[in-house]
Amino acid sequence: MTTTVITGASGMLGRRLASDLASVGTPVRPLSLRTGSIAPGLLEGVDAVIHLAGEPVAGRWTPTKRAAILASRRDGTRVLVDAMAAASARPRVLVSASAVGYYGERGDEVLTERSARGAGFLSDVCQAWEEQAARAAALGVRVVRIRLGVILARDAIAFRRLLLPARLGLGGPLGSGRQWWSWIHVDDAATLVRTAIADQRYEGAVNATAPGPARQIDIARALGRVVHRPTLLPAPAFALRGLLGGFSVELLGSRRVIPAQAESLGFRFAHPEIEGALADLVAPAPR
Ligand SMILES: NC(=O)c1ccc[n+]([C@@H]2O[C@H](COP(=O)([O-])OP(=O)(O)OC[C@H]3O[C@@H](n4cnc5c(N)ncnc54)[C@H](OP(=O)(O)O)[C@@H]3O)[C@@H](O)[C@H]2O)c1
Repeated sequence: MTTTVITGASGMLGRRLASDLASVGTPVRPLSLRTGSIAPGLLEGVDAVIHLAGEPVAGRWTPTKRAAILASRRDGTRVLVDAMAAASARPRVLVSASAVGYYGERGDEVLTERSARGAGFLSDVCQAWEEQAARAAALGVRVVRIRLGVILARDAIAFRRLLLPARLGLGGPLGSGRQWWSWIHVDDAATLVRTAIADQRYEGAVNATAPGPARQIDIARALGRVVHRPTLLPAPAFALRGLLGGFSVELLGSRRVIPAQAESLGFRFAHPEIEGALADLVAPAPR
């Protein structure tokens, strides 16, 4: 009865959670949602479901890509919750990923779980994703909607894309550089998901972001310091928009998100501030 199902288990956070859970003896069952259906009985008697699957958001947002980003999350979550409804012994808890994209573009406003939703494509995607996940509550499943910030990890594409120019001394501001980035170290993201499974006080929206969001230019400078390089070359907003299309809103958009819910429940972040988190990630990997 202790099995944890993970969708998107082959992804960056999924791999990390699968390995952490296996290391403490929790049986883990990966479940791919790529086929658009779930075999009958697959969720029968499962203890917890961690739902991470979704078409990667990075890359150029062509109409086909946009459709895949939305459909994989909205329809994938619907199929997952329908499979829970069909089970006679339902999971106790569903921890379902969402993203700080929920809040849209908000300048310097401090955002907590109580803040209103923003506007734009990602916000619409997160709304549809969370709405489907929330349906599981009516089945008696405790639902935690975990609004992830940019996950910083050695193997995260986002982090590697920051690290290479920084090592070359080219990691300057993106656009004005004044936009707030809400980030989280992968250690804290994984611990927060596991805490949300174990601790019954976690329910509803939970921001998975470090207590210290930072302006992009300050993140670039902190990274420059930890790799001992200057942060020189700016990337103008128009060039990023041309290069990345819709995805540039992720890099140029400003979201100053605070993990109010996790902090009120006493969650202790191992990496609350950006410079310490970056220093940890550029250090040689522990054996
Ligand atoms: N990484 C971040 O910085 C970040 C920030 C905010 C939110 N999030 C969200 O958190 C979740 C996990 O993040 P991650 O970085 O671990 O993601 P990831 O590395 O991109 O992995 C996502 C996984 O979803 C599955 N998948 C991919 N395309 C799919 C499709 N079209 N239909 C169905 N399943 C598909 C794949 O798993 P299988 O092949 O095993 O099915 C893939 O490994 C994602 O939903 C992501 O949007 C991540």
